[in-house]
Amino acid sequence: MLDISNASRIFESGCGPGLLIPTILLNKTLNCEYISTDLSEKMVESSKLRVLNFLTFPNGQQENDSEILFKQISWRAEVANAEDLSQFSTDYFDIYYGGFIFHLVLNPMTALKEAYRILKPGGKIGFSIWGRKEIADNYTILRTTAAEVGYVFPKSHDAFHLGSDKAELKQFLENLGFKNILLWYQNTAANRFTAEQIIEGQNPSMIELLQKDQDLYKQLLKKLDEKIQHKLNVLNEPLMQDCLLVIAQK
Ligand SMILES: C[S@@+](CC[C@H](N)C(=O)[O-])C[C@H]1O[C@@H](n2cnc3c(N)ncnc32)[C@H](O)[C@@H]1O
Repeated sequence: MLDISNASRIFESGCGPGLLIPTILLNKTLNCEYISTDLSEKMVESSKLRVLNFLTFPNGQQENDSEILFKQISWRAEVANAEDLSQFSTDYFDIYYGGFIFHLVLNPMTALKEAYRILKPGGKIGFSIWGRKEIADNYTILRTTAAEVGYVFPKSHDAFHLGSDKAELKQFLENLGFKNILLWYQNTAANRFTAEQIIEGQNPSMIELLQKDQDLYKQLLKKLDEKIQHKLNVLNEPLMQDCLLVIAQK
């Protein structure tokens, strides 16, 4: 939905392990400056590794050439907090990508303000956030089941909040100055069929918390598998995930 063929500068926040990066690299022009960022150093390193694996090495170049290789494709990755992008100039980027990040940050409105600031006038933002909770069991099944078997989680903010009200989000984007706003919900099947696959998709600190008490963890896996099998084999439906996708222009 975002045409990047004429972009000269692309910014990505919350790049995670870099799943989107190969697609952007294939579609941007060689000289288009593309910066992928994440709050976590570990994620930045993992996205570098993904790009290295994606690039081919016809001359048997070694990994210690990586920074040179990255320069050749006008890409770099660095640590940055989406809520404070003061190291980046105002009115600088043509495109801002934020895949599944704004519902996670402490203050999404500050992060969206920063996105607006660093975009050029006419530049575009594209982002995805969690959508409608009631039709997103792939996102809710773990916490619900864990609570049922006795886990107690520290209080955290509701990651569904931002995507629960399209009209409110649109109003906020307009207040920031964004125009030509498109917002749409997308409900898709999750490619997850076992408890292990659900656990694998969690961040490392969540996995550590779940595995602290091994007896409780075994109960969790058993109950999770039962629920997933019921959904698949009795209701004959896959687990679902729901996103709110947004495109807007500065
Ligand atoms: C769910 S992952 C999304 C990864 C990727 N964009 C994707 O769609 O596959 C969210 C990422 O946002 C990062 N993140 C969380 N808070 C952040 C912040 N304030 N600034 C930058 N990145 C942040 C996390 O470290 C994590 O890598």
